Amino acid sequence: MKELCFATNNKHKAAEVGRMLEGRYKLLTLEDIGCHEELREDQYTLEGNSRQKAAYVWEKYHVNCFADDTGLEVEALGGAPGVYSARYAGPQRSDTDNIQLLLNNLKKAENRKARFRTSITLFLDGQEHHFEGIVNGHITTRWEGDKGFGYDPIFIPDNHTRTFAQMSTEEKNAISHRGAAIRKLVEFLKNHG
Ligand code: IMP
Repeated sequence: MKELCFATNNKHKAAEVGRMLEGRYKLLTLEDIGCHEELREDQYTLEGNSRQKAAYVWEKYHVNCFADDTGLEVEALGGAPGVYSARYAGPQRSDTDNIQLLLNNLKKAENRKARFRTSITLFLDGQEHHFEGIVNGHITTRWEGDKGFGYDPIFIPDNHTRTFAQMSTEEKNAISHRGAAIRKLVEFLKNHG
C-alpha cells in the first residue's frame, strides 16, 4: 500500500483522516518519518502556510505528504482573524481569549456573517496539488455548546440552528470546512492511487 504523511501534530485530525483513507493509503505521522522538529507556518495566507508545511516535509524527507491550515474569516472584520485565528488574542493561543476578543470586536456589528476556510496542499510524487473547503455561517452573540474546539461555541453554519459546539463530531464533519477539504483530497487520491 502507498504511504502518505499527514504533516500535523494533531492526533485527533490524523485519526479522522486515517479512517477516510483506510484501505487505500497508509497514513504516516511526522513521528513515523522521523520528523520531530516544529513545522514553521509563518506565511500571510492559509494557502501559504499549508504549502510551507507540506513543501518542507517533501523537500527534507522525500515522502508523499499533505498539510492543512484553517482560519475563521469574519466579513465585518475584513476577513480577520483569518490566518491568525489560533493567536488572535495573543501568543498564548487561548480559545477562550480568542472568542472573548471576537465577540467584543463584533459588539456593535449587525453583519455577523463568517466562514471557516481550510486549505490543503498535497505533494504527490513531487507534484503539488491544492484543495479548499468552506463552510458559511454567522457568529452568535454568546457561547453555546461545549463540544469541539476553537471558535465552535460561537459559529452557527448556514441552514442550521445550533453551533458547531452543540453538534457531534460526525454531524460537524459532514458539513465542516475541514471535512469538505478532506473529502476533495480523498476523492483525488482515489483517482490517483
Ligand atoms: P488549524 O490550522 O487547524 O490549526 O486551525 C487554526 C485555528 O483556527 C485553530 O487554532 C482554531 O482557533 C481555528 N479553527 C480551525 N478549525 C476550527 C474548527 O473546526 N472549529 C473552530 N475553530 C477552528
